[in-house]
Amino acid sequence: MALRVVSIPHGGPAWREAVALRHELLRKPLGLAFAEEQLRRECEALHYAVYDGDAIVATAFLQPLDAERVQLRQMAVAPARQTQGIGRLLLGHMEEDARRRGYRQVVAEARVSALGFYLKLGYEAEGDVYDHLGLPHRWVRKNLI
Ligand SMILES: CC(C)(COP(=O)(O)OP(=O)(O)OC[C@H]1O[C@@H](n2cnc3c(N)ncnc32)[C@H](O)[C@@H]1OP(=O)(O)O)[C@@H](O)C(=O)NCCC(=O)NCCS
Repeated sequence: MALRVVSIPHGGPAWREAVALRHELLRKPLGLAFAEEQLRRECEALHYAVYDGDAIVATAFLQPLDAERVQLRQMAVAPARQTQGIGRLLLGHMEEDARRRGYRQVVAEARVSALGFYLKLGYEAEGDVYDHLGLPHRWVRKNLI
């Protein structure tokens, strides 16, 4: 089955599935959960998912920071589907969409465990490693040209 990258509207069933995948990968292992208020605020973001047939296999969203910059947030690829090029496919699609919408730069708070992924995709790390949610993170950025 071919992979499909799609935009998903905030609040709909696909977004709920995406939230469930993000919860499983990014919050549950830390003993955390998303607050409803936090999820409501995501209405300002652009949400994306990758489907293999009917199954969601990856998701992430872009939060506009200003007229030129978006923040990539909560990138998650289903564990059984990691390191098969799906993250690259999703992020490439998101960057292209951001560029088409007039944004010039993507920034992200990268987990140090995933830093190599962002560097492979042309992101530059900046500043020191810091703690966020009990995990080491570092800011990364990429100019959209
Ligand atoms: C990090 C993540 C999004 C990457 O997605 P993916 O589909 O596994 O990555 P891809 O297969 O597209 O990898 C693209 C390249 O990055 C490399 N890469 C992927 N994950 C990496 C990692 N954690 N560290 C170093 N390199 C990594 C791959 O080896 C590949 O390199 P190649 O082109 O030389 O083969 C995914 O593994 C994931 O969801 N991890 C758990 C949650 C997480 O950490 N999210 C990020 C929070 S900031």
